[in-house]
Amino acid sequence: MCGIVGYIGYEQAAPFLLGGLEKLEYRGYDSAGICLNDGEKLVVKKSKGKLEELKKLTNNGNDIIGTVGIGHTRWATHGEPSDVNAHPHLSDSCRFAVVHNGIIENYLQLKDMLTAKGVKFRSMTDTEVIAQLIEYYYKGDLVDTVIKVLSKLDGSYALGVISIEDPDEIIAVRKESPLIIGLGENENYIASDVPAILSKTRSIYRLENNEIAILRRDGVKIINTDKDEVTKQVETINWDIDAAEKGGYEHFMFKEIMEQPKAIRDTITPRIKNGRIVLDEIKLTAEQVKSFNKINILACGSAYHVGVVAKYIFEKVLRKPVETDLASEFRYRDPIVDEHTLTIVISQSGETADTKEAMKEAQRRGSHVISIVNVVGSAIASESDDVIYTWAGPEIAVATTKAYSTQLAVIYLMAIYFGDMLGTITPDEYRNYVSELESVPDKITKILEEEEHVQYLASKLFNSRDVFFIGRNIDYALSLEGSLKLKEISYIHSEAYAAGELKHGTISLIEKGTLVIALATHEELIGKIVSNIKEVQARGANVLCLACENHQELKDVAQSTIFIPHSCDMMLPSLAVIPLQLFAYYVASLKGCDIDKPRNLAKSVTVE
Ligand code: AGP
Repeated sequence: MCGIVGYIGYEQAAPFLLGGLEKLEYRGYDSAGICLNDGEKLVVKKSKGKLEELKKLTNNGNDIIGTVGIGHTRWATHGEPSDVNAHPHLSDSCRFAVVHNGIIENYLQLKDMLTAKGVKFRSMTDTEVIAQLIEYYYKGDLVDTVIKVLSKLDGSYALGVISIEDPDEIIAVRKESPLIIGLGENENYIASDVPAILSKTRSIYRLENNEIAILRRDGVKIINTDKDEVTKQVETINWDIDAAEKGGYEHFMFKEIMEQPKAIRDTITPRIKNGRIVLDEIKLTAEQVKSFNKINILACGSAYHVGVVAKYIFEKVLRKPVETDLASEFRYRDPIVDEHTLTIVISQSGETADTKEAMKEAQRRGSHVISIVNVVGSAIASESDDVIYTWAGPEIAVATTKAYSTQLAVIYLMAIYFGDMLGTITPDEYRNYVSELESVPDKITKILEEEEHVQYLASKLFNSRDVFFIGRNIDYALSLEGSLKLKEISYIHSEAYAAGELKHGTISLIEKGTLVIALATHEELIGKIVSNIKEVQARGANVLCLACENHQELKDVAQSTIFIPHSCDMMLPSLAVIPLQLFAYYVASLKGCDIDKPRNLAKSVTVE
């Protein structure tokens, strides 16, 4: 959620720090700040609000000098958004400065201990405790001091530390919250995520938990908390800088909607060889797969919605019971999980706190965990038993689109792969599924080519006050995502409802002009959904129906329709979600919303 940057070299640090924070804005924040060592003292400039405020405060970085510095964009967890609560935080004597992403769970006890020793606190944050502890324990060696302080902290953290006492180094630490080290020529960098350093280098180290990086101008040393040196593989980032930029589109979200055919192709192609699904990432034998008596799927938000779609697919294709759970609920309900449960965890960022902890809960109970993750080397990817990466590339918009679609693609790969292993699909079905899956990217391209129709409908409907998304079976699962997309970027209240459930109460909310978006792609239940459409129309609803192009008769049923190409049932969500993403995008655009960074939201929810 927060963004960290740091620079040590021979150039002025401020331009890199401000530019790096700009590239991390997508993570969501409410204040920002930088701290530089100007050769005599640590100078901190920070302010509530957007990065623009910080740029004004520092005259675009020109009024703050120094070749060593750290910067931060804060998403408030302890202490409201304010100048004083913004990072970086200084120790009492201003000799040490810290930036932090994560939560220190025992900060109040530590704060009480330090206050009793006469330490004066300026802010309400947990982070300031770290800066004060470093000063409290400092005896001349910053690395030793940081290690000592880490032993006092409970919780999660990515830290950047600079000091006036050790002016030629930055100390960086990771525990749970992501942090990377950028490797330059006579300069080195720290950052929460890759886009912040791409303008300088493509060579990085990804810190693992409890690893400490000591950055100097001439090199970077990685140690553990026992001060043993750790050998790291340099990772080369092959994203072009424009892959993390907007590529000519007005918003990252639209760019990422348009990237979906490529993202899905990139995800499935390496895993289909001579017509066969190859998932070497899964280290389970057929016997082990057969031994599972249940599949649990854990995730949050849109990733959870993929899990709901997966439930319908896996139960139909694999004939095994599937339970899809909100990670935040699973963790605390003493779930029935053991070594006969296969757990699938889905996460774009691989850092979502609830999902990560739910995964650990499942592992503690003996379950084998396969994760489906987009960010390489993220916590969930690293700590699951097997990881299948979605090669969607960096997803910058807070509202997910291509990650959702590539997660669905991996679900299809797994359904075919496991179905073959379990003998629940015939060779003909296998071939048909693979062929249908390979046709999905082109069908999405066709839908995207007709996006003006969706834009037209959005222009007619963007003033809706309450919107209901209804569907049956896999269409219901998809309606969850359609509803979330609309509300999270347009701020219009909407809800997804199983169409057969409406009459049990919620239909009382339908009145003249209420917009109902009816998903009618599931072949077997078209008759039922048509009845539901008529039910809500009888109460005045304005129905937009989304259906397959082989059901043109629906044009005469609903007030407006969107048609998608046909496919096998299980892959229709990948096609039907595209118009729903576009609809949400155009409605939000017409309402003038901040589409890439919706209010109150963050791209990666790394705190509970
Ligand atoms: C989706 O548009 C939202 N950004 C949000 O629901 C997101 O899907 C959820 O926070 C899970 O994130 P993850 O996939 O990174 O774990």
